[in-house]
Amino acid sequence: MRRIFIALTIILAISQISFDRAVAYSANSGADKPAKAKSLYERLGGKKAIAAVVDEFVARVAADDRINSFFADTASDAKRLADFKQKLVDQICQATGGPCKYKGKDMKSAHAGMGVTEAAFGALVEDLIAALDKFKVPEAEKKELLGLLAPMKGDIVEK
Ligand code: HEM
Repeated sequence: MRRIFIALTIILAISQISFDRAVAYSANSGADKPAKAKSLYERLGGKKAIAAVVDEFVARVAADDRINSFFADTASDAKRLADFKQKLVDQICQATGGPCKYKGKDMKSAHAGMGVTEAAFGALVEDLIAALDKFKVPEAEKKELLGLLAPMKGDIVEK
């Protein structure tokens, strides 16, 4: 009888420990678990939001006398313009961690022989910033996106 009593006490003690652990685990596996960090793509608002920024950006570039001569042929051909915008959307979507695949040229080949200057590069970045501001993209996301594009400068600027 004494043995049965001891065995029962042990079983009860073990089941209490497992119960406590189960409660502790379930309490920790809920909402207080750190949320997975959102990609820049998600924080920008996804593909639709990126496409809206690209539309605004390209319109600003087309109206910018400092650099629109570079884009004269592109702007005068609707299909070429649509293709160019699509490539920009895919490039930004992919670079920010989105589900797209950029299938255009690498930045060196795409701009080879155009004679893009530092000043032209700066003007284009200003137009992009203005487009991002129009859609009230927060400072942190703006900086992060510009930080992804900045390293391309060496492949684009030739003079
Ligand atoms: C970070 C800056 C830039 C990015 C991310 C960028 C991106 C691109 C991309 C993705 C393309 C398409 C490539 C392809 O056809 O496969 C392209 C083409 C082009 N880029 Fe840029 N570019 C930048 C800066 C510039 C600058 C500063 C200029 C001139 C001021 C410029 C002028 C052009 C032109 C004229 C084309 C050809 C468009 C066409 O196909 O009709 N880009 N660029």
